[in-house]
Amino acid sequence: MNLPKSAKRFSVLFAAIILSILCIRFVSRTCFAQSSTQSAPAARPWMNTSLSPDQRADLVLAQLTLDEKIQFVHGAGWGVLREGDPVPPRSNLGAGYTPGIDRLGIPDINLADSAVGVRLGALQSRYATLLPSPLGLAATWSLKSANLYGEVIGRELRDQGFNMSIGGGVDLAREPRNGRNWEYAGEDPLLAGSIVGNLAKGVQSQHVMGDIKHYAFNDQETGRNIVDVHIDKRAARESDLLAFQIAIVISDPAAVMCSYNKFEGVYACENDYLLTQVLKKDFAFKGWVVSDWDGTHSTVAAARNGMDMEQPQGEYFGEALKKAVQSGQVPESRLNDMVHRILRSMFATGVVDYPVLPRRVVDPFKGLEDAQQIAEESIVLLKNSDKILPLSADKTHSIAVIGSHADVGVLSGGGSAQVDAPGGNAIDPKPGTAEWQKPMWFPSAPLKFIRQAAPKAKVEFNPGTDPTAAAAFAKSSDVAIVFVNQFTSEDSDYPLTLPDNQDALVKAVAAANPRTIVVIESGTTILMPWVNDVKGILAAWYPGIGGGQAIANILFGAVNPSGKLPITFTKSEADLPHPQIPGWDLAMKAAQDHKPVPPFDANYTAGARVGYKWFESEKKEPLFSFGHGLSYTTFAYSNLKVDDKQKQVSFTVKNTGSRAGAEVAQVYVELPKTAAESYKRLAAWDRIPLAPGESKTVTLPLNPLCLSIFDVQTNNFTPLPGDYKVHVGSSAKDLHLAATLKVTE
Ligand code: BGC
Repeated sequence: MNLPKSAKRFSVLFAAIILSILCIRFVSRTCFAQSSTQSAPAARPWMNTSLSPDQRADLVLAQLTLDEKIQFVHGAGWGVLREGDPVPPRSNLGAGYTPGIDRLGIPDINLADSAVGVRLGALQSRYATLLPSPLGLAATWSLKSANLYGEVIGRELRDQGFNMSIGGGVDLAREPRNGRNWEYAGEDPLLAGSIVGNLAKGVQSQHVMGDIKHYAFNDQETGRNIVDVHIDKRAARESDLLAFQIAIVISDPAAVMCSYNKFEGVYACENDYLLTQVLKKDFAFKGWVVSDWDGTHSTVAAARNGMDMEQPQGEYFGEALKKAVQSGQVPESRLNDMVHRILRSMFATGVVDYPVLPRRVVDPFKGLEDAQQIAEESIVLLKNSDKILPLSADKTHSIAVIGSHADVGVLSGGGSAQVDAPGGNAIDPKPGTAEWQKPMWFPSAPLKFIRQAAPKAKVEFNPGTDPTAAAAFAKSSDVAIVFVNQFTSEDSDYPLTLPDNQDALVKAVAAANPRTIVVIESGTTILMPWVNDVKGILAAWYPGIGGGQAIANILFGAVNPSGKLPITFTKSEADLPHPQIPGWDLAMKAAQDHKPVPPFDANYTAGARVGYKWFESEKKEPLFSFGHGLSYTTFAYSNLKVDDKQKQVSFTVKNTGSRAGAEVAQVYVELPKTAAESYKRLAAWDRIPLAPGESKTVTLPLNPLCLSIFDVQTNNFTPLPGDYKVHVGSSAKDLHLAATLKVTE
């Protein structure tokens, strides 16, 4: 048949579309043929949605053989994660896979790393939205954005055929050099727990199971498989464990991942105190405990002490567990409890009632829009001398953009949370999966968006690799914008000094051009020996796929910055509780000798004094305080009232400038003297958008856990009778109002 070229092209396209639809249908029928709704409720009474998730789980459990139970409590192998390992036939090519029970219509569990977007997309040419890092999300202080963040992840997981997210990191940024801080939500238990809890809630709103990790005290990567953490019990409950408690209570997550490290001499994944006493009893956690990958060290101890599922394989929870159950070393009731917890979470989140079939293409535009919006709320304006920002598009005639590959994209964090960039690494584009610990740049070039924002200006780029050349380049322009970056990744910790001579770059440019602005893309805090030399500083975290546009929008004032620091920036590592990371020397030596890191302790002598609490109690001046973040408008605080009975406060915030903006108003409390604390605690906050001249009175309940101390004798959080000094302000150090709350009971 002689068809014109365009018609031929159309028919080829049409045939391709039909073929792919048929393929997807075939694949979904064969590979994912487990629709749970196939048989009638009478034959499968657990499909009766009017029963509770617990009742439904018990009905399934009653049908299971010992082998089926065992099959359900471990992964089916490393699959795509380890080169050369077989890939289980129905695995969706994520980090983990546990086969379901086909004869009962219980679906497989397909788990994907997804702390910041769905990992390993390139393996199957699938796109996933890269969101700003969770640390950036915490800088929004917005529970709404945390929910949205989770929704994006849940939506894209589901579209890609996964029914479980592994993300939800809530380890406190107790150690600013931790290479995974970018995956977590900062240093304060209330802020981190609330952000991550809402994130996991957002994931689960998409009928995808969520998890919270790494439980607990996995606060450094140095020697993470061997470090033994010690901390006073009260301090433990008021810091790291409190963050988990808050996140778990908010989200009721399907799972909690136990961590690699030891706690008080016992591996976290077989630690009765952490898993059974605190998590399952005190927090009333109803889901299951999944091991971190290869984080299981025993069968009987792990099973008896509260771990419920081994991933990604069945070395300890496969045949070995079956034998332990048969010999009575592990009671069958404990195995039943493990399976019950898994099934209950599957019913509770809806993965049985709403199976993930068929696979769909994700909506990249929706993802991009959401990612950009969150990035815009997350960027923190740290410094703005002489109101250098926002830049005026009309009055700025020449702009020197320098460094950090700002001409091609934005940086992301490394490790198991790394998302694949569309088209490959933007600085070296080859399609494919990210390499372990190799910095990956996403195609969202700040340079392009700066040019769009200032169409009349001469905007030029210099790579910044030679500070002298960069300074000469910047000298004659109206303004110099230097991008600096700090790559961080799982499995390593990082000094806070910027790598690659970037401090010298900033110094040289600032010396050449008095109107220098620095934009930081980082996974945690950094040192700034040039802080007094530059006019403006933005912390953009790892800003995600909408990052380039978001940064330009802040620089030119299309968006008024509203982010606030979720982590204290120190002036020097010497001011930290551990001037050197515990075990650092041992780990360096072991790496040199090609030997495993020997056992060592991390003594958390700072106790609950994490971040700003440490700085305040030690009377050390931070570089930028927790909660700090400037705006292009100004806010005034007034009229603080406390309600002793309701334990809440109200106050008024007014936008006293000429631009619309949002203020994150923070409430800190000093406990009565009997608490023996020398620091304030964050107890509430609100993100308040205000038009110019507008004022708003907000009433905020103070979190009861933040008004209490953990009483080790009674094993309870107890409020202390007495006077609580309440402070309201725009950061932990910039406090505007104070009053006294009297607690009698
Ligand atoms: C990480 C986990 C991750 C798992 C699976 C481990 O190395 O600690 O956070 O979910 O790998 O990729």
